[in-house]
Amino acid sequence: MPGFTGKTLLVTGAATGLGRAVATMAAASGARVAVLDVNEAEGRKTAAAVGGRFWRLDVADPSAWRDVVADIEREFGPIHYAHLNAGVMTQGLGESLAGANVESLSPDRYRQVVGVNVDGVFFGLQTLLPRMNTAAGEAVTVTSSAAGLVPIPFDPVYALTKHAVIGLVRSLALAYANARTRINAICPGGFASPLLPPEFRTAATMSAEQMAAEVVDLLLTGATGETRLKLKADAPAQAVSPPFPTLA
Ligand SMILES: NC(=O)c1ccc[n+]([C@@H]2O[C@H](COP(=O)([O-])OP(=O)(O)OC[C@H]3O[C@@H](n4cnc5c(N)ncnc54)[C@H](O)[C@@H]3O)[C@@H](O)[C@H]2O)c1
Repeated sequence: MPGFTGKTLLVTGAATGLGRAVATMAAASGARVAVLDVNEAEGRKTAAAVGGRFWRLDVADPSAWRDVVADIEREFGPIHYAHLNAGVMTQGLGESLAGANVESLSPDRYRQVVGVNVDGVFFGLQTLLPRMNTAAGEAVTVTSSAAGLVPIPFDPVYALTKHAVIGLVRSLALAYANARTRINAICPGGFASPLLPPEFRTAATMSAEQMAAEVVDLLLTGATGETRLKLKADAPAQAVSPPFPTLA
């Protein structure tokens, strides 16, 4: 498999969990990594551990995206790869999902979840694609979820956001079919990370490192438009196709 030697990788949500594992694995295979997160303390630790640099970025803020990407390019040169991975569930970190029902969800929290999981991916792609397509290209992998492909009654708003980004990835892959940059999505089942609510922690069958290996493979070799589902550590990932190719 080709590596990341001489390439720059941007990772959002890279302070902890899957983003940190991808940053670590890619750096070990030669990438210069831009570590982006709102969690400054853990983000700086990740950046130091991978020999990269930390930028504070709230992915839901479009003007911050433009500023941070311009700064990364000044420091590292063109961005070759991006993992748009920052994400939240409807409950706060460490809280039970019991409070994540639609009736009691506050408008502010609803906007936050959609802001990180959907706006964050959209503004990232909007900022990065024109720049990557006029430079060397390569790939953007978006972290969706198994909850982007099937219903999850325990967090319907999370499912909404994860379905949304699959629609965006598949549509942009067709809209940009002839462009240099491949766009695809990873759909993990449960893996151990701070995001998981306490009641699901024992059910997670995979580690963040096992998921990261799949993300690295998607970045380096995944097809554009591919939506890849990985449910168990010991079972192969599978590409999930839409029921028919397009409405056009
Ligand atoms: N853990 C699982 O079982 C699981 C399953 C499927 C999908 N996912 C997805 O994997 C991705 C990574 O999650 P994780 O499980 O590693 O959890 P995590 O909490 O360790 O990582 C999420 C990261 O996103 C960052 N973040 C949150 N809001 C942000 C914002 N506004 N701007 C920038 N960064 C922000 C957090 O600080 C954190 O570092 C998420 O998109 C999540 O939805 C996780």
